[in-house]
Amino acid sequence: MHDLVQDYYGKQLQSSADLKTTACCDFTAMPDWLKPLLSNIHDDVLSRYYGCGLVCPPLLEGCRVLDLGCGSGRDVYALAQMVGASGEVVGVDMTDEQLAIATQYQGYHADKFGFDNVRFIKGFIEKLDELDLAAGSFDVVVSNCVINLSPDKDAVLRSVKRLLKPGGEFYFSDVYADRRIPETVKNDPVLYGECLGGALYWNDFIQLAKRQGFSDSRLVEDRPLDITDPVLAARCGNIQFFSATYRLFNLDALESDCEDYGQAVVYRGSIAGSPHRFVLDKHHNIQIGKVFPVCGNTWRMLHDTRFSSHFDFVGDFSRHYGIFEGCGVGLPFDVAGLDGGVACC
Ligand SMILES: C[S@@+](CC[C@H](N)C(=O)[O-])C[C@H]1O[C@@H](n2cnc3c(N)ncnc32)[C@H](O)[C@@H]1O
Repeated sequence: MHDLVQDYYGKQLQSSADLKTTACCDFTAMPDWLKPLLSNIHDDVLSRYYGCGLVCPPLLEGCRVLDLGCGSGRDVYALAQMVGASGEVVGVDMTDEQLAIATQYQGYHADKFGFDNVRFIKGFIEKLDELDLAAGSFDVVVSNCVINLSPDKDAVLRSVKRLLKPGGEFYFSDVYADRRIPETVKNDPVLYGECLGGALYWNDFIQLAKRQGFSDSRLVEDRPLDITDPVLAARCGNIQFFSATYRLFNLDALESDCEDYGQAVVYRGSIAGSPHRFVLDKHHNIQIGKVFPVCGNTWRMLHDTRFSSHFDFVGDFSRHYGIFEGCGVGLPFDVAGLDGGVACC
């Protein structure tokens, strides 16, 4: 699979316009604050963006960030501006042609930003242990439309867990399916290259994450994908694909379910760019100053991480009230827009 993917992203695709799905056409969620950062990035880098979501969580100043499958470096250069001169962003990719573009413009971006805080490494994301990256040395690991392409997703998440600092997070966008992918779709080289064939059924992903020590995956945002090529769409039949962004915190104390200990948090409104509300995930949109009841896991995701000083915390773990209300299972993605189609570039 590595050869097939290297060929697809190194030789066959020349720009985002060559893609056959709406995976990278995420205009709906492009926040205003990101536009000036992207406008500082060279066009040659931008034109080879093949991501499917936004992997720029807040509060990154001074952080050390690792981008798995960084491609031509769009996210690396956006994140470099967010972490600032005191932070660092490391991009890993296995495809020479993608890395050549990323490194070609390193000097250009250093001049533009006024600092050079990025590093690109050639390597496989299943073999991160072979790269010279210290365990527990990253605040945040990101990845944009890459994990689906990996033939060994367990190995990737195992290494992510090893490389993250305690309280750090894996914040990543990828493609998921509403069901398990049949072999015919999996073995189709174009569907695989297009990030569809290797996509996980969403609930298999949740179980995989648990297996690798990420007990409570949090869905941040999602949207249905359209396969714009009719031949490929026919090969996929009724499978519905979604682009989704998850965040997985490296917190060993997280439980497998949301348990209620009667706790709450109050957001101080002090995170840059989030003066009125803090969005932890799709179900936690926390308004400034409001007492917001949370389960034990959410409490820990805010208390034992870089977000801690931006909240007041109510309660502890001394009394248990059972399962947190509204903690259910079912398709987590929104299907609205599926029949009407999704606007694309
Ligand atoms: C869909 S592109 C996304 C690139 C980049 N994240 C972006 O948003 O533009 C997938 C990238 O992941 C890289 N990739 C895929 N599988 C990989 C693996 N197992 N190890 C390292 N890189 C990989 C490819 O070379 C390609 O550059």
